[in-house]
Amino acid sequence: MPANPLLKSSAYIDGTWICAVDRAQFAVHNPADGTLIAHVADCRATETEAAIDAAHRAFPAWAARSAAERSALLMEWYRLMAVHEQDLARLLTAEMGKPLAEAAGEIRYGASYLQWYAEEAKRAYGEVIPSPSADSRMIVVRQPVGVCAAITPWNFPNAMLMRKAAAALAAGCTMVAKPAEDTPLSALAMAALAEMAGIPAGVFNVVPTSRPAEVGAVLTASEKVRKLSFTGSTGVGKLLLSQCAPTVKKISLELGGNAPFLVFDDADIDAALDGLVACKFRNAGQTCVSANRIFVQEAIHDRFARALADRVKAMRVARGDAAGAEIGPLINRQALEKVESLIADARANGAEVLAGGSCHETGGLFYEPTVLTGITPGMAIACNEIFGPVAALMPFRTEQEAIALANDTPFGLAAYLYTRDIGRAWRVGEALEYGMVGVNQGILSSAAAPFGGIKQSGMGREGSRHGLDDYLELKYLNMGGIAR
Ligand code: SIN
Repeated sequence: MPANPLLKSSAYIDGTWICAVDRAQFAVHNPADGTLIAHVADCRATETEAAIDAAHRAFPAWAARSAAERSALLMEWYRLMAVHEQDLARLLTAEMGKPLAEAAGEIRYGASYLQWYAEEAKRAYGEVIPSPSADSRMIVVRQPVGVCAAITPWNFPNAMLMRKAAAALAAGCTMVAKPAEDTPLSALAMAALAEMAGIPAGVFNVVPTSRPAEVGAVLTASEKVRKLSFTGSTGVGKLLLSQCAPTVKKISLELGGNAPFLVFDDADIDAALDGLVACKFRNAGQTCVSANRIFVQEAIHDRFARALADRVKAMRVARGDAAGAEIGPLINRQALEKVESLIADARANGAEVLAGGSCHETGGLFYEPTVLTGITPGMAIACNEIFGPVAALMPFRTEQEAIALANDTPFGLAAYLYTRDIGRAWRVGEALEYGMVGVNQGILSSAAAPFGGIKQSGMGREGSRHGLDDYLELKYLNMGGIAR
């Protein structure tokens, strides 16, 4: 990788770049070719506790700053992200693999949370309640929760961190962030920009580690950490939720999905194809809100499937830094093997491959964008998050059947539907048991919107004015002695 001014390999704790105890390090590789990018400080319990202590010490002064002061610092952090957009994007592509244009899009997306919450910091309004007694006044103030832990995923190593950090710092909380072991560099780069922006020591700390379970256990057990925000798998989310129980932490979880994508026979087919390609193949399908089960009404099913296959066959699979790349590598060998095994199972059970279906000729971690038909609800590919560039299609007959199939999952993150019937759009939109529904829209993500799921897809919301609430506590003050 060419020299990058934001490439950092130390942990960032209490405003200082530190090595781990015994100078322990772990290697970060480029998934496009397996080359080594950096050796990074491998934090364990000692460093995690030091970061928690730093965040705890920094909290009172940060919380006491005026909202306008915190807002100004977040705006400076935002401005620096814009100045360094290309450095951040190149780092992201190198460690995660997504095409450079998509990586730059993610940096703008991550930055938009800083901009949004720099504004929102100034609107953490309280409330005055008409008191039942003439002698008292009832007031509600919103106060920062305290030290927050953020455990962030590899698929959006910048944006998922920034949507937690921006809301937390805007609210007056301090943070200890643990990035995913495949992609710690984007988080460390954001620490470098936080330092340049003048965010005070201890307010934002990053502890990279190759031992997520050990660091996660310290973060969740600590009495000083008052909130955990996690984005990742449902399995790990459930474990963290149980680990947070003894200290009764506030918790936000954005977990796995199994998104249905419904195309009715009255839909604008080209718009549905555009929306599906954007939704399904963004980040090579490695997105929690990616369409996982694509239900197409039977009258248009075959035509739709052929048109999708034609589009998918034209996609350029290449390393993220190659010109015109649309599909980069998967994150690691385990991810590739999961996709291979889901496709093998589907084929063995009668699915037909209309496009792709194999590892890409480039080799390594590249997989061909794939279209499968003949999927049935019981197949492993319809029950598990694919997290790869694979579109799995099933026909349906009626609106009722489509709703029942779509809701037949323990997950409830995102769903999509395409129809030109306004009544159907409302009916189906309301009937879908999901936290987010795209109606004639394949992309939901926006700092202005409340992102999050229901059922086993999690709890809490990130983004929008609601995202700030996850980092605030309500305090009710009853002030007496007024009538005397
Ligand atoms: C995710 O995959 O977890 C988030 C994707 C997004 O914010 O669009």
